[in-house]
Amino acid sequence: MTEYSSNQTVSYDVVDGIAWVNFNRPDKRNCMSPTLNRDMMEVLHLLEFRDDVGVLVLSGEGTAWSAGMDLKEYFRETESKGLGATRQAQRESYGWWRRLRWYQKPTIAMVNGWCFGGGYGPLFGCDLAFAAEEAQFGLSEINWGILPGGGATKVAVELLPFRKAMYHAMMGENVDGRTAAEWGLVNEALPLAQLKDRVTAVAKVLQAKNPVALKATKDAVRRVSVMSYDDAEDYLIRAQEAANSYDNHGRKEGIRQFIDEKSYKPGLGAYDKDKASG
Ligand code: ACO
Repeated sequence: MTEYSSNQTVSYDVVDGIAWVNFNRPDKRNCMSPTLNRDMMEVLHLLEFRDDVGVLVLSGEGTAWSAGMDLKEYFRETESKGLGATRQAQRESYGWWRRLRWYQKPTIAMVNGWCFGGGYGPLFGCDLAFAAEEAQFGLSEINWGILPGGGATKVAVELLPFRKAMYHAMMGENVDGRTAAEWGLVNEALPLAQLKDRVTAVAKVLQAKNPVALKATKDAVRRVSVMSYDDAEDYLIRAQEAANSYDNHGRKEGIRQFIDEKSYKPGLGAYDKDKASG
């Protein structure tokens, strides 16, 4: 059954371990107003530690994933209330994108349509991203006279080679889902009609993995990107040892099922995390 955030700007539905969360302002192409930003934080908070949620998928109602920040409500109306209001609106939007970057559960962006500007924040916030070939991605900020802020320039530089990032930011031209996949903005692009099935299949694979190891892995990939090799080596030792304090059994069971029981091969798939040790 579909549920809604306090102000109806976010919808969500938990089905078979997958939380399907949608931007829900289709008439406004799901652009992000301060209200939507508050609602999204509310929904992320509600879902993060629910036992029946294994994976969170972020998508959009209607033809858009998100047309970026709401130029009227997020910029014009907020600015008219002064600097304090501007800073609060920034905290609220950046806040939920950060929450997403370090979310407890694996996250997937399912980009069904338009994805502009500020939308790159949650796009990067999600661990994986799958797009419709029909989707359109753009850093359109330059087209209305600002730089790609709110992290968008950082996302472009993180995900794209220098020349592509520079062209993308300076030209204000859109790329479709297929090009976004070739460039590395998303993992894959496929026809819109196949998008949900593919995302469901990926979510099912993630759900079968050890959840403590998944959280440690996704954090490690983000953390080590800004570390020296030696720092990363040390961090990864500490991170695994910290993960052991939450689950000191899983990896031993993984070894047991392979070496003793011979019931699976780690090179070919995951151990059965639900099987009690013999
Ligand atoms: N901010 C405020 N309102 C928006 C936004 C936005 N980012 N995007 C769409 N809307 C509103 C439109 O004003 C319109 O409102 P109305 O029905 O009250 O007139 C409604 O959503 C529908 O938009 P249309 O433009 O009619 O939809 P269409 O499907 O023809 O075009 C498109 C879609 C291309 C996404 C277009 O709406 C658009 O260019 N939006 C702005 C994209 C953008 O540049 N976003 C800002 C990025 S920069 C940043 O995020 C910091």
